[in-house]
Amino acid sequence: MIISTNEVLFDEIQSETLVVAVSKHAENTSKWEAFLSSYGEHITEWVKSGDISSELKKIVKVPVANKETLKRILFVGIGERKQLTQENIREVFGLVGKELLASKPESLAIWIPSFSTESILDGDIAYLAAEGLTMGSFVYEGYKTSSNVPDYYLPAIELLTDEDSDEIVSYFEVGTVYADAVNEARILVNTPGNVLTSTQLGEYARELGSTYNFETEILGKKEIEELGMGALLAVNQGSVEEPRLIVLKYQATEKWEDVVALVGKGITFDTGGYSIKTKTGIVGMKGDMGGAAAVLGAMQIIGELRPNKNVIAVIASTDNMISGNAFKPDDVITSMSGKTIEILNTDAEGRLVLADAVTYAKQQGANYIVDVATLTGGVITALGYDKTGALTNNEKFFETFMEASLETGEFTWRLPLTESDKKRIRKSDVADLNNSPGSDGHMIFGGGFVGEFVEETPWIHLDIAGTSDTKAAYDFGPKGGTGVMVRTLATLIERMAEEE
Ligand code: BES
Ligand code: ZN
Ligand code: ZN
Repeated sequence: MIISTNEVLFDEIQSETLVVAVSKHAENTSKWEAFLSSYGEHITEWVKSGDISSELKKIVKVPVANKETLKRILFVGIGERKQLTQENIREVFGLVGKELLASKPESLAIWIPSFSTESILDGDIAYLAAEGLTMGSFVYEGYKTSSNVPDYYLPAIELLTDEDSDEIVSYFEVGTVYADAVNEARILVNTPGNVLTSTQLGEYARELGSTYNFETEILGKKEIEELGMGALLAVNQGSVEEPRLIVLKYQATEKWEDVVALVGKGITFDTGGYSIKTKTGIVGMKGDMGGAAAVLGAMQIIGELRPNKNVIAVIASTDNMISGNAFKPDDVITSMSGKTIEILNTDAEGRLVLADAVTYAKQQGANYIVDVATLTGGVITALGYDKTGALTNNEKFFETFMEASLETGEFTWRLPLTESDKKRIRKSDVADLNNSPGSDGHMIFGGGFVGEFVEETPWIHLDIAGTSDTKAAYDFGPKGGTGVMVRTLATLIERMAEEE
């Protein structure tokens, strides 16, 4: 619950910890003076001496002695308002979230003194602060029987504001909705493959669907066979686990038209199959369903905020295993679309399951397709661990996407997909396509292969192999699953809904 007050009455703060954003601008206002003086002279002194300052990302924890409930103030620097970016605000509050994990206050108040600029309004700040706090305070509990990281959840927040409080509160709530969904995606990515099987991923989606009233279909092996999804079945062939095709429909308008499909790679563990991974390369492959997690996270936000846009989520899920039954290099398989595929590398399995998922999405009336996948090591070679790689066949759609990506701060960079790349994907003596044309620039081959099934539909491919998992803690969270693209996909849908 969020309590807000139209007047900032410092003596009425009911929380144990107060977070105060310190900006250069607010420092000179009478409200700031009044605030400081209500906590005794020493705080004013510390501000004067610069121990407490507006320096970006500086956090100073100060005990409070003269109030009944309030025990400490966390001063956080947000700098000069002219230079501040939206991402800065998110990062600052991400760090505050981390600090709260250490001090674990049972109740929390936040005061962001009126700060709006031409480009960042007070509402935006509330939204960004909520996102940062909720992502920054995320902890993955894991399976330790005796954990030294006790769980901590953000308490109800008292939001102090001197602006239109209802508006600020609703912005704060939207930020929380976004970040909660990111955290859910992180949990999915972190969950080991023996726990999160495709059946379990299907059950997770079924629950999500029932929470938000989505039309939900979780197709099992028999139905997948009936649909002729030869590519998804080939990848599943060596597994003792059944595959799943997960479908969630969010219908916003009376007619099922102008539909955006969010298509996710849901490989719950990727051994590489007979083109087996190395003993180091295989570790971490529980996260090969990061695309599915991004799609489910985005659907959670869509379910909460209910934008005016029809959306279908399609996730193809299986693990990629080895056994006497497993598919092999040289095999030729027939996809749901009818296109035949020569298998050159069983580790290039993501594009195969996406091929059938995209064909299914088109059959269900998709007018726009975004596929998200931890698809290639190539994207890491090209762009590193902090940039999502993209391909597209439609400039305008991509422009809208990039606006969303800039807004969320989830950096995305487009690579080209040329006719000569397509030629190499189509080069095979025995089939229509091959699944691994080469290791040179192979991010493009991975995405381009999916494009062969998209055909003319406006499409964006997102390769999150580098960004879905992080090896080190960062401002917004711990190491592990990042929940990347959850916020950008949901923002894209919101923007498309507004364009109507
Ligand atoms: N799941 C991997 C891609 C990946 C690599 C994800 C590293 C996360 C971190 C994918 O299925 C794969 O193995 N791709 C191969 C394709 C190659 C065989 C054409 C790759 O990128 O090496
Ligand atoms: Zn693979
Ligand atoms: Zn994979």
